[in-house]
Amino acid sequence: MWPYPRLIVHRLGGALAPENTLAGLAITARLGCMGVEFDVMLSKDGVPLVIHDETLERTTSGTGCVADHEADMLRQLDAGAKHHAAFAGEKIPTFAEVLDACQRHGILPNVEIKPARGFDVETAEATVRAVTEHWRGTTLPLLSSFSYAALERVRDIAPHLPRALEVVEIPADWQAQVRALGCVGFHASVEDNDLEMLRECRSHGLQMAIWTVNNRQQAEALFAAGMDAVFSDRPDLFPAE
Ligand code: G3P
Ligand code: MG
Repeated sequence: MWPYPRLIVHRLGGALAPENTLAGLAITARLGCMGVEFDVMLSKDGVPLVIHDETLERTTSGTGCVADHEADMLRQLDAGAKHHAAFAGEKIPTFAEVLDACQRHGILPNVEIKPARGFDVETAEATVRAVTEHWRGTTLPLLSSFSYAALERVRDIAPHLPRALEVVEIPADWQAQVRALGCVGFHASVEDNDLEMLRECRSHGLQMAIWTVNNRQQAEALFAAGMDAVFSDRPDLFPAE
């Protein structure tokens, strides 16, 4: 079991700030939200950073692949101005910085291991190392991933860390996968699965969180169907917990 807050703010600050930035986390904290999700990827020199895409163009002032650049260079890029000029100067945070900030704000992290292609095991190992070094809270972060190989590695080297499998469309063999990985949670897309399927999965006892839900009514329907949490880009639409 993991104490899922009902609302998990997607990519640290949802749509209210540049995604996966400390500015987003600060806004989430001011709104009184208890949970955040963010994405962890490795730089060329193996530093876990918080960024969603394998390439830099969409969210930063850089070009090319995250995995082709060293952390020192990536940390000089602007990760705020593409969202809004008011956020210019915001950096790509390190995973360690985000863990520390979550602890300061009393926010529970769902760490999505987001490996660049071919780096599943390395990204899982670096994520576990950083959690071990930086997390002092009694409730452990939840580690999730679309990567079966990454979760398998977490299971093998840190079986005490809670895990959740991410899927887009729920596959026929989902039960076998989550059982083999020892998951406490199962995260699925709201767009690619109907409510009956989600309800059916939830009835097998696993905790479930659904993304990305930016509408209060849709969230209420999911909670009524037994879902434990929703990921949202619009934390401002939800009452504080
Ligand atoms: O973990 C939920 C959600 O973050 C998965 O999709 O692409 O936003 O990382 P994505
Ligand atoms: Mg994510």
